[in-house]
Amino acid sequence: MYDDNPTINQLTQKIDPKLQGQAFDDQKSSSDTGKQFYIESYGCAMNFSDSEIVASILAEEGYTSTRTWQEADLILINTCSIREKAETTVRHRLANFNNIKKKRPGTLIGVLGCMAERLKSKFLEEEKLVDIVLGPDAYRDLPNLIRRAEDGDKGVNVLLSREETYAELSPLRLGTNGISAYISIMRGCDNMCSFCVVPFTRGRERSRDTMSIIAEAKDLSDRGYKEVTLLGQNVDSYSWTHPETEETVSFAQLLVMVAEVDPNMRVRFSTSHPKDITDEVLYAIRDHHNICKYIHLPIQSGNSRVLKLMNRTYDREWYTQKVDRIYEVIPDCAISSDMITGFCSETEAEHEDTISMIHYAKYTMSYMFYYSERPGTLAARKYEDDISLEVKKRRLSEVIRVQNQISYESNKRDIGQIFEVLIEGNSKKSEEEYKGRNTQFKMVVFPKNETSKPGDYVNVKIESVTSGTLRGVIV
Ligand code: SAH
Ligand code: SF4
Ligand code: F3S
Repeated sequence: MYDDNPTINQLTQKIDPKLQGQAFDDQKSSSDTGKQFYIESYGCAMNFSDSEIVASILAEEGYTSTRTWQEADLILINTCSIREKAETTVRHRLANFNNIKKKRPGTLIGVLGCMAERLKSKFLEEEKLVDIVLGPDAYRDLPNLIRRAEDGDKGVNVLLSREETYAELSPLRLGTNGISAYISIMRGCDNMCSFCVVPFTRGRERSRDTMSIIAEAKDLSDRGYKEVTLLGQNVDSYSWTHPETEETVSFAQLLVMVAEVDPNMRVRFSTSHPKDITDEVLYAIRDHHNICKYIHLPIQSGNSRVLKLMNRTYDREWYTQKVDRIYEVIPDCAISSDMITGFCSETEAEHEDTISMIHYAKYTMSYMFYYSERPGTLAARKYEDDISLEVKKRRLSEVIRVQNQISYESNKRDIGQIFEVLIEGNSKKSEEEYKGRNTQFKMVVFPKNETSKPGDYVNVKIESVTSGTLRGVIV
């Protein structure tokens, strides 16, 4: 789900290609002014979802979207700060845009998202070609900053908000396959994990109005969508209180409400924090066919001392109990994880604890990173970044190797089984084949038949596997 580590992405073969520095399709707006915007997104799904909010704000202003940045009147880059590499990627991309102002002097360039929030007005000093810097809670101010920039006045708005959820804005679905969509259910994060920049770039946690979430799910169902993913940095702490009835909606309740909108539309969610996921959420998954049996439950480290330094608020034992409980309630649930290698003062033995956790939890896949110190975080202020890059990378490759092996073993157990697969489109390699996912979020590839099309559910019997893909035939 994260964009900045292509080698690792290739190794794990798990990353959704959609999420890699993606630009969006051409779309027309109702009040066309002839102006075109181009938007490119990096980082997590929240950023991709935010770009759709931004696109809807621009459509209201009469802009249409283009896939070709050389043609655009406004070039936007929605940025990520999670690791140093993510920021370097954005800087290189901005350098690519460098010549455009000579060829098309009126072109405006805007930086959105987490890097805008982290660097604020420093961005305008460092990157001379940038005209607009806008943080994640300030997108409603974009039309205003565009007008100012058109008059030659560069602008910054990085105010974070305690309320903004863009609740009533209907996202303009960009780069869509018409089958799967994101629904943002909350913003910000109140967990101060010591390594993480997100609380600084996204501000305080707040939950979106339940009614607006349900309305968005209904609208997507009416338009033929077959899968929604509820997004937040920590979805299990979703909590929204109705202003009149004063009833509070928990994440488990929200999940059920969204699932009941359309039994033919799958519901996924990301990300769960191990400390907050409740039995009610597990029961909701168990009891609703269309809530997918897949939980992304990042552990970060398998060692309790390191977890304490990371301020994750659970230890190894607590986490293993969560894993046990998930498999007890939903035996065929898939669990995936995020892991960081070489965090401050991590010993070899502690690193081995992370590896043994992959075996224990039987993760179907993981997103794996080596530690990258982020300015301003608790870890940067309190702990020494004392593991050499060489050791961090070596530990990372060990973690990846074990995860690939465990993924392969998990996939091998699927041979001979029949899965319901939602067809997403042609497989990457062949026009003769479809790809889609099963409820466990595993990618399944199979030959087309005459009657099925993207957006349909088909039953596929698995015949062979790799660590990243299941192959089978429609039955
Ligand atoms: N809210 C999610 C994580 C969002 S960030 C959660 O708590 O699980 C996505 C992932 O990036 C994290 O899970 C972590 O594994 C990784 N990450 C965050 N900060 C990092 C850093 N400073 N260095 C390396 N990886 C980091
Ligand atoms: Fe970062 Fe922790 Fe919040 Fe996730 S839960 S976004 S890792 S601070
Ligand atoms: Fe990156 Fe911001 Fe997401 S730092 S991972 S884009 S919340």
